[in-house]
Amino acid sequence: MSLAGDFERALDPATIFTAAGMVPDPWQAAVLRSTHPRQLLLCSRQSGKSTTVAALAVHSALFDPGLVLLFAPAQRQSTELFKKVTALYRSLPDVPEPVALTETRMELPNGSRIIALPGTEATTRGFSAPRLIVVDEASRTEDALYAALRPMLATTSTQADQGRMVCLTTPWGRRGWYFEQWEHGGDVWERTKITAHDCPRITPEWLAEERKLVGDFIFRQEYLCEFVDTEEQLFPTALIEQAVRPAGGPLWI
Ligand SMILES: Nc1ncnc2c1ncn2[C@@H]1O[C@H](COP(=O)(O)OP(=O)(O)OP(=O)(O)O)[C@@H](O)[C@H]1O
Ligand SMILES: [Mg+2]
Repeated sequence: MSLAGDFERALDPATIFTAAGMVPDPWQAAVLRSTHPRQLLLCSRQSGKSTTVAALAVHSALFDPGLVLLFAPAQRQSTELFKKVTALYRSLPDVPEPVALTETRMELPNGSRIIALPGTEATTRGFSAPRLIVVDEASRTEDALYAALRPMLATTSTQADQGRMVCLTTPWGRRGWYFEQWEHGGDVWERTKITAHDCPRITPEWLAEERKLVGDFIFRQEYLCEFVDTEEQLFPTALIEQAVRPAGGPLWI
């Protein structure tokens, strides 16, 4: 690796985008430059959220040697994210050849490993002290996955030593661990919300067409990032809450 390129990239993860011929959107640069150990990204379809965390994974593997774990609801999806990781890595002009590379795993000479896994609790076993955990399409992953991942980050002794966790998604109903953390998780998380209107690559004309095509319910979740009640639910959550707690008081007296 050239010293100058190496140094610039170490200092600014956003330069990994530049090397791949892309200019990061301001929110992408902010996410990449953040040093917050816990991040929730609630972003529209096609806004560039997976590319952002792929760059983060590359940066972490190069400059914070250790384990990087990529999760998504299904292996197919985490493999897709892994493809973005390897494509970005390949676009960097002066990085070392991986010592091992498969469809789901890359190992670098500095000992870093990036591994793509399906989002089940069972697959988390056997891994310890990751430097970075990424959960893509997080609202669609099981509560058991989140429960299994949290302790993995607590295994290091100091705050500075702690691994990072970045969870990205579009909303998927008003339930599940991601919804709970987004709404009620407090300030342990840094939150970034990017609707389709905030993405310079999505035009208003295209959005208007898409709204007609997918309908209001899906559009509000997928493009406006609203946690809307699930289609399966017969009554909206607010109505149920009103009915069971008429004066905002306790349910049981
Ligand atoms: N800053 C950028 N400049 C140019 N192109 C970008 C930028 N960020 C992302 N892209 C491109 O936009 C497309 C969508 O990116 P990406 O797959 O990361 O989005 P996403 O939000 O994860 O989408 P999905 O909702 O389908 O999962 C890709 O072709 C990606 O290369
Ligand atoms: Mg994606």
